[in-house]
Amino acid sequence: MKITVIGTGYVGLVQGVILSEFGHEVICMDINEEKIRNLNNGFIPIYEPGLKEIMNKNFLEGRLYFSSNIKEAVESSDVIFIAVGTPPMDDGSADLQYVLSCAKEIGKYINAYKIIVNKSTVPVGTGELVEKTIYEVLEERGLSYDIDVVSNPEFLREGKAVNDCLRPDRVVIGYENERVLETMKEIYNVLYLNKVPFFFTNRKTSEMIKYASNAFLAVKISYINEMALLAENVGANVQDIAQAMGMDGRISPKFLHSGPGYGGSCFPKDTRAIVEIGKKYGEEMSVIEAAIYANEKQKRKVTEKIEKNMGNLNGKKIAILGLSFKPETDDMRDAPSIDIIKNLIKKGSTIKTYCPKGMGEASWRLKEVNDKITYCKNEIECVKDCDGLVIVTEWNQFRGLNLKIIREKMKDNFYFDLRNIHCKSSKVRELFKYFPLGQK
Ligand code: NAD
Ligand code: UDX
Repeated sequence: MKITVIGTGYVGLVQGVILSEFGHEVICMDINEEKIRNLNNGFIPIYEPGLKEIMNKNFLEGRLYFSSNIKEAVESSDVIFIAVGTPPMDDGSADLQYVLSCAKEIGKYINAYKIIVNKSTVPVGTGELVEKTIYEVLEERGLSYDIDVVSNPEFLREGKAVNDCLRPDRVVIGYENERVLETMKEIYNVLYLNKVPFFFTNRKTSEMIKYASNAFLAVKISYINEMALLAENVGANVQDIAQAMGMDGRISPKFLHSGPGYGGSCFPKDTRAIVEIGKKYGEEMSVIEAAIYANEKQKRKVTEKIEKNMGNLNGKKIAILGLSFKPETDDMRDAPSIDIIKNLIKKGSTIKTYCPKGMGEASWRLKEVNDKITYCKNEIECVKDCDGLVIVTEWNQFRGLNLKIIREKMKDNFYFDLRNIHCKSSKVRELFKYFPLGQK
């Protein structure tokens, strides 16, 4: 099958590559010409483990193409995936300008019946809007091709995106016309044969499933983060609480790891977007609003805890390890590290930092405070002469740090372990004034 994927970001690129791995002929199209040039030269614009190898293989075998030519991309495929961004607007609602601009371009060049598959996370009713937009443009052209717009939300996690696309927990397909089913099953035939569950529903329900899932996970994280705050005050241990809670199959231990607050390109934006969808329909999304509030509070509490224990932060030098919103990604969108660093700088601290992949993007996201930040080439250089150390993101390489050497390089020995990666170490409390999260 010939498939076009519009948008070669974290979702579109991974999807396009995996669809080519499934044996389809895939054009990955993006308006960013530099991105396409780089991809054609074998350079991936994002860090996603395992992607490069599969991409290069399928590119060399002639199943995967990169193009910035929308006309050719629309005309030559049977199925067109939309995987462009839906960033938040000022009020939190999803900005649909990129999705609708794709719909207009598709309408402009469509030359036969095609299925449009929406992978972007979009408010309920967007499928209908995309369909209407395409038909309007077709009418302006005096043409009357049939189309179907399908909702097929994406559930991949960054850093594990390749595996998540090869072995998803489920594939959700929201449709309005049964004639799409055969093609949709053919697209994902490999997953079908591998017994991945398929869930078929109507388009609006499918659109809402995506927001409902992300918001639920965000609520779960905010819930355990509040438990961590309380546990710390009452002298309990949040990791044990989460572990024992998770033994109840109805709760599950997943997404019960307390930390500095959830970040990334999805949870913060999608929770705000569903609250705005609720407002539009007169429904208060009170549980999700509380989760958003708790997440903001969590990031504030981190700075307060550092200040409470280190004293006046004015003139203090603080080492921050881990900048990306989670390990194994270079994505800095809504990373808690940004707020934490800005708060510490506001209190008069200077920052030294190291992150295996996040420093490039961090340096432009933090550009207004960069004069107070030193980006270091490794952990040792980062902690040298610092008064305190804060682990914000739990990259695996930080777990194996030689704590004795870290301590020797530091000026003072405050250590705030916001991901509890060293709380089981026998030495950590001897070497440092050690502050894990939600426990002593
Ligand atoms: P992204 O910002 O990384 O990439 C979007 C890409 O689309 C960019 O390369 C941009 O140049 C391109 N683009 C924008 N307008 C275009 C147009 N008119 N024609 C061609 N290309 C265009 O975004 P992302 O993180 O891949 O997210 C895409 C969508 O998927 C969003 O709706 C997001 O909510 C959803 N999603 C993201 C993730 C994730 O982990 N990042 C997971 C699931 C769902
Ligand atoms: C998320 C969803 O998991 C995925 O299904 C969806 O398609 C996109 O959004 P992603 O943002 O890539 O994926 O990462 P995820 O692993 O979900 O982590 C999101 C944030 O929550 C990170 O900041 C992470 O540190 C935090 N988190 C996650 C916790 O603080 N505790 C946990 O137990 C899990």
